[in-house]
Amino acid sequence: MRLFINKYCYDLLWLTQTNIFIWVLFSYGQAVKMHGIFAMSALVALLLAVAWADHHHHESEMSCHKLSSPNADFAFALYKSLNTKTAAGKNIFYSPLGISKALSMLSTGARGETHSQLFSTLGYSVLNQTQVNEAYKHLFHMLGQNQENQQLDVGNGIAVRSGFTPLEKFLKDVKHYYSGEIFNVDLTKPEEAAAEINRFIANKTQDKIKNMVQDLDPALVMVLINYVYFRGEWKYPFSHDQTYKADFHADRTTTVQVDMMMRTGFYNIYRDAANHTTVIMLPYKGSSSMMIVLPDEGKMVEVEGYINKEYIRHWQDSVSMKYVELYLPKFSVSADASLDNTLKEMGITNAFGGNADFSGMSDTIRLEVSKASHKAALSVTEMGTEAAATNIFDLVYRFLPETVRIDRPFLVFILESSTRNILFMGKINNPTAM
Ligand SMILES: *[C@@H]1O[C@H](CO)[C@@H](O)[C@H](O)[C@H]1NC(C)=O
Ligand SMILES: *[C@@H]1O[C@H](CO)[C@@H](O)[C@H](O)[C@H]1NC(C)=O
Ligand SMILES: *[C@@H]1O[C@H](CO)[C@@H](O)[C@H](O)[C@H]1NC(C)=O
Repeated sequence: MRLFINKYCYDLLWLTQTNIFIWVLFSYGQAVKMHGIFAMSALVALLLAVAWADHHHHESEMSCHKLSSPNADFAFALYKSLNTKTAAGKNIFYSPLGISKALSMLSTGARGETHSQLFSTLGYSVLNQTQVNEAYKHLFHMLGQNQENQQLDVGNGIAVRSGFTPLEKFLKDVKHYYSGEIFNVDLTKPEEAAAEINRFIANKTQDKIKNMVQDLDPALVMVLINYVYFRGEWKYPFSHDQTYKADFHADRTTTVQVDMMMRTGFYNIYRDAANHTTVIMLPYKGSSSMMIVLPDEGKMVEVEGYINKEYIRHWQDSVSMKYVELYLPKFSVSADASLDNTLKEMGITNAFGGNADFSGMSDTIRLEVSKASHKAALSVTEMGTEAAATNIFDLVYRFLPETVRIDRPFLVFILESSTRNILFMGKINNPTAM
């Protein structure tokens, strides 16, 4: 019989995610020669608010929950748009709330139609900028708490070209509501500036993201950086010695070998037969969990077609504890997405063109977004040793577990329960593809 040693942290299974969002904005019109290009790059890994039932009535929670429903709708709209642009068999992974938050920051400097388009695409039309700012402030304040056993850092930075001064109010709002750290870089020396920005990002992401920014245009005037760094530890870790090579069926004709982890224990699961899918929750220590949505064979397209925030809520409400033999591949995914066309398709057109109005950022230079890209990385890595939990369940529960085998493409959501948010979402078509 093995002893269960409750060994802390480092040798268990970790899930690490980081995620990046870059915008490059440039100036336009006569001022171009003088001040050139306005650049904004953002590193983002945030949380997608989803419409959970609101059981609490604190002012701050109410405020941050205002964003839940629109952000969830935005997230799924984004998924649908990204999915049509993603080659078959490729993985998708992103932080929809990260993108929402970055766009909300951008909108603090936007005016007129540029602002309305941002707000209507984000689903914030019934709110004003102050309410959105306040809601994000509360949301991140709440996310900053409750961090026992998980690391979740959310923040922003703005690198400003020496000599270019954005409007005071814009900087103030970014600092106050979005905790932006503002620093000067010499963008006339693009390599040094890039190195400095990359150091900032690397520092904030525990070196998980390095060299994010390259080839900065010497004419850039500002780079905006957002980041979220999340690391969680499974509440019920997998045992290293239960991991073995197994087949994963990426599609009908493609089978890849994965390191398949296995654990037998109690999980919240729901078999949604009518909707052709199985949902299983894997809790982390702390307040986050992973939700895996495993469509029945050949049903991915169908599930992707209907999935929305109501289904997430329905599944959350429907799961129940079952004794399960769970097979989950170890995987690591890093996905880049160019968002320009996606955002334009979703209705944010003015920001990218000659009609852009960012007069809330600068009243002397005409600015527009020239590039928006996003990078998200997820790795589920097993470092662990103790098989404790599994063995304990083996001793106590002698009845046959139900088997859940994640051996075909699945959808993944990271949920945060204290704010009823989703951290990241994506589709893993092939766990061996980077
Ligand atoms: C935003 O809306 C709130 C609540 O309706 C209101 O109190 C506030 O004055 C509005 N702010 C602006 C700048 O319109
Ligand atoms: C990030 O910078 C802070 C302040 O300069 C420093 O204390 C910290 O050790 C750095 N972290 C990393 C991972 O480099
Ligand atoms: C399928 O999903 C819908 C929408 O969430 C839900 O109303 C319905 O109950 C689901 N079917 C089953 C069998 O769970």
